[in-house]
Amino acid sequence: MKRKILFVDDEPNILQGLRRMLRGMRNEWHMVFAESGEEAMRILEGDPFEVVVTDMRMPGMHGAELLKKIQKKFPEIVRIVLSGHSDQELILKSVRTAHQYLSKPCDADTLKNTVARACALRELLKDGTLKQVVSNIDTLPSLPKLYQEIMAELQSEDASMDKVAKIISGDVGMSAKILQMVNSAFFALPRHIENIAQAVNLLGLETIKALVLSAQIFRQFETKGVPESFLEKLWGHCMGTATFARTIAREENLSREAVDDAFLAGMLHDVGKLVLSTGLPEKYGEIIRRAAENGISLRDVEDEVLGTTHGAVGAYLMGLWGFGDNVVEAIAFHHVPGTCPARTMGVLAAVHAANALEHASGPEDLKTDETQVDREFLNKIGVEEGLERWAQVCETEMQ
Ligand SMILES: [Fe+2]
Ligand SMILES: [Fe+2]
Repeated sequence: MKRKILFVDDEPNILQGLRRMLRGMRNEWHMVFAESGEEAMRILEGDPFEVVVTDMRMPGMHGAELLKKIQKKFPEIVRIVLSGHSDQELILKSVRTAHQYLSKPCDADTLKNTVARACALRELLKDGTLKQVVSNIDTLPSLPKLYQEIMAELQSEDASMDKVAKIISGDVGMSAKILQMVNSAFFALPRHIENIAQAVNLLGLETIKALVLSAQIFRQFETKGVPESFLEKLWGHCMGTATFARTIAREENLSREAVDDAFLAGMLHDVGKLVLSTGLPEKYGEIIRRAAENGISLRDVEDEVLGTTHGAVGAYLMGLWGFGDNVVEAIAFHHVPGTCPARTMGVLAAVHAANALEHASGPEDLKTDETQVDREFLNKIGVEEGLERWAQVCETEMQ
């Protein structure tokens, strides 16, 4: 069946250009073009669509507003922004409402691949078995409060780093934990960090946000009866994966956002393990035993027994919380990047490789899980020669 895609732009020339550029897609896509947000909403009311690609700066209803409306009324639709360079401010407004961002001019291939990736991710998250497994879990963890407070502060008119630092410092236990992490070998900082404001200054807000979020999520599981030794080991592995993923992303000159996303996705790539082990304790205990006894990967046993995996479950949770596609995709496919239609070096590849490298250097009993690197995938996206170099840089960083 053809995929239905709605393009929205106030400039007829741009729509005409898209129409021409995407002529080759006619057999796969059913494309409709709207000249305003209002017209787009009218079309969506009458007809179901899978994807909307919209401009940002438009008279009347602008792109961010349109996306917000679509998110509310038709949450299943994939929302992609295609905007000009001068639209930075408007783009910031759509941070939590768009799944992907593209900038003009955009070639047919990039657009095609972005749509394919966004749809593949939605399909994975819509999977019936995954939904069933998740619905069998009584209480999914909630998006941590402190993190929500930070986000709310950042969205306020007079947001400041100082205030964010104050919010974190207000939670004494959390700030002690953050300072402990920041001063650990993972960050290898030249001097001791005394307070949260310094940490934000030195490591950047995104890194501190990722640390707060993951520390709080792990804390939620502490009270749910996950054995402390398991939590601690997993925490160490996630910290390691996050720092490796960030290093790899930097090595490959990815954008700043991608570097930050790689760190966050690395921190939370195995969160599905926590969800499953608390939500289905008996079944998951059995899965862990079977994997260890037979020396097969946890992911494979999960797939066999549950019909889904910790990657998919973790991605489902992050999707529910409204995180961007790059992060959700990296978590979803971190063991099986080859099943994702991604075709360029990005967050997924960084997290996939970082996870494998970290497992290979980590404790013996976690090793069976995930040391395999998908070389074919790295080859496909043109970075296979990078692997050795990444391993070296990551190793030196940890010394
Ligand atoms: Fe994993
Ligand atoms: Fe992992």
